[in-house]
Amino acid sequence: MSLLDIRNLRAAYDGAEVLHGVNLRVDAGAFVAVIGANTAGKSTLLRAISGLLPRTSGEILFQGDNLLALQAHQIPSRGISHVPEGRHVFPTMSVEENLMLGGYHRRAHMQELRSTMDSIFVQFPRLAERRRQLAGTLSGGEQQMVAIGRALMGKPSLLLLDEPSHGLAPKIVQELHDALVAIHQTGVTMLLVEQNTKLALSVAQHAFVLQSGDVVLEGSAQTLLNDSRIREAYLGI
Ligand SMILES: Nc1ncnc2c1ncn2[C@@H]1O[C@H](COP(=O)(O)OP(=O)(O)OP(=O)(O)O)[C@@H](O)[C@H]1O
Ligand SMILES: [Mg+2]
Repeated sequence: MSLLDIRNLRAAYDGAEVLHGVNLRVDAGAFVAVIGANTAGKSTLLRAISGLLPRTSGEILFQGDNLLALQAHQIPSRGISHVPEGRHVFPTMSVEENLMLGGYHRRAHMQELRSTMDSIFVQFPRLAERRRQLAGTLSGGEQQMVAIGRALMGKPSLLLLDEPSHGLAPKIVQELHDALVAIHQTGVTMLLVEQNTKLALSVAQHAFVLQSGDVVLEGSAQTLLNDSRIREAYLGI
């Protein structure tokens, strides 16, 4: 059984439908990417999984339960963390305080939270050095690490990532690539949404192509990398 099984998902804003019956599966332990151009509905898809959209239909089965029946605040404790588009770190709070917010639903287990934070600092030594620095004073790449670290504080089994590479320099994108691989290797199932098709297909095992609210293609990352339609439309080669 898939960890996440999305069936015929429709989502709308103010009466305008944006997802038109999306089907998508993510197996436990997999690294899956969703690629697609601007306004394809990638962020909407992740927001629907996190329970942030009021107008949805279909099914989002996670470990067999339909997430559409839950409220947004009930999702993190089910084992799903969301790294939002644009990072949304809290600029006037320290790195450590930002991270702590991601573990809110685990607050009764402070010692475990501390140990999760220690492992995040091992993963991102640059955050350890800056643990008391205000997040708003960090570089874009460092803020992205805070956003990812904050999500990991929830100890997710499924990590949703919305365009983590956006606005980052190529060298930092390479660091991000390595960090995502390392997180996946710790056993976290990954669902990555990206306009950066090259990054997405180099890090994921399987990918879905979303176009104007429909999944138009899916396959192994290798297959999609060799697909002439993908190469022309998304890789420019
Ligand atoms: N809060 C909202 N209210 C109304 N329409 C919205 C809202 N958020 C998104 N939309 C519309 O839904 C469609 C899909 O948007 P979405 O943000 O999911 O796309 P995306 O694939 O994430 O795009 P991008 O790559 O630019 O982030 C767009 O046409 C957008 O204008
Ligand atoms: Mg988006």
